[in-house]
Amino acid sequence: MAMIAKQCPDIEVSVVDVNADRIAAWNSDRLPVYEPGLDETVRQARDRNLFFSTDVDEAIRRSTIIFISVNTPTKTFGVGAGRAANLEFVEKCARQIAEVSTGHKIVVEKSTLPVRTAAAVKRILDTSGNGGSFAVLSNPEFLAEGTAVRDLLAPDRVLIGGEDIEAVERLATIYGRWIPDERILTTNLWSSELSKLTANAFLAQRVSSINAISALCEATEADVDEVAQAVGRDSRIGSKFLKASVGFGGSCFQKDVLNLVYLCEHFGLPEVAAYWDQVVTMNNFQKGRFSKRIVETMFNTVSDKQIGVWGFAFKKDTNDTRESAAISICRDLLRERSRLKIYDPQVSERQIRQDLAAQFCGSDGSITDAGQALLDQNLEVVNSCAAAAEQSHAITVLTEWDEFQSVNLDRVFASMQRPAFLFDGRNVINRDAAVASGFEFHGIGKP
Ligand code: UGA
Repeated sequence: MAMIAKQCPDIEVSVVDVNADRIAAWNSDRLPVYEPGLDETVRQARDRNLFFSTDVDEAIRRSTIIFISVNTPTKTFGVGAGRAANLEFVEKCARQIAEVSTGHKIVVEKSTLPVRTAAAVKRILDTSGNGGSFAVLSNPEFLAEGTAVRDLLAPDRVLIGGEDIEAVERLATIYGRWIPDERILTTNLWSSELSKLTANAFLAQRVSSINAISALCEATEADVDEVAQAVGRDSRIGSKFLKASVGFGGSCFQKDVLNLVYLCEHFGLPEVAAYWDQVVTMNNFQKGRFSKRIVETMFNTVSDKQIGVWGFAFKKDTNDTRESAAISICRDLLRERSRLKIYDPQVSERQIRQDLAAQFCGSDGSITDAGQALLDQNLEVVNSCAAAAEQSHAITVLTEWDEFQSVNLDRVFASMQRPAFLFDGRNVINRDAAVASGFEFHGIGKP
């Protein structure tokens, strides 16, 4: 919305949320998300034609186009728990729009939704008692965190699905202010909804595919980066998104693949469901494999050993930790009774503690006494790579932050216990330099 406001100064954009703290943060100098270039984009448009407020009803009344951009997390209860998307918030938005609207509105699904959600949204909107009329469009978002501003400025494509040609045209015209026409695709509603889930499933599948091969590389002395390069040179395959890692994270991949699995089952396609489910299974295997390898390499015990963790975010250039591979790896290492010193350039100590506390909860949903004791005694969050490494037996790299590549490895090595291990879960550290400094080095998918 900030990008639309920035590119179209004549269009008034109101961003509303029921969470007053979040709106206050959007109105402050400290935005609630870290994203390169976002501060500047927001600053250019805020209080000019971009407004953040908690007055949802007023924004509905004033607007001609309404984007529903709420969370659709994986359901944790009832039918489809663990796989289906929780559409509670989408439905609540639709009900509120129906209740408040009087004239004609274009309602745009921006949230990632299961295919055919628009039918439900339309039915709810049509219950409007105030004479409101609606066109429903699907306009999924394809930006990735860390590159969001760049992705929004020059997207590979903008996708708009809908039956109401006039409404589709209207939305296309807005994007058309800065995006070439040939990049604006229009489809029917269901194709648009399904394309979003499919794109994420394909991307996640690529990561799981290369991660699966990384395990085979470790067993055969092949090098996964070399394999990825050789394979990616085939123009039919392409070179992007073939970086082996500790496993994909983020708020979308797992959620969307599981949602796709659920949909396939719902529509009576168990084989298709099982095919996609394997993408998540492989990701869980990769995360577990990495922590297991650390323990095995360090003489089968990390109990009472200090391990420095570099990076906690699910990828670089974001402070987002949702589904970060770092969470389960740190949990595994804490369960093995190691002492962790975690450093991430953007993730707060509060967030790290909150994410790990959630891993040690009992059946009542609160952290167990044993879990709390473990976090109190064995977890420290520090302010630099050097501080995480000092007196540690090992360093493990879990996020590919650029700054990790310019660390002085000689100095770091000198401050550590011997033998000093370096487990690079992102293949970003120069192996030869690490070995020359004295480290025993282990990369993902490396001989
Ligand atoms: C992803 C998609 O890339 C976006 O197109 C989509 O709009 C977004 O989800 C969404 O649905 O909102 P995002 O999760 O922000 O974006 O980040 P990605 O760059 O896709 O990375 C996801 C995870 O895969 C990260 O943990 C990353 O480290 C990992 N990854 C990615 C790899 O391990 N290897 C790769 O080669 C690429």
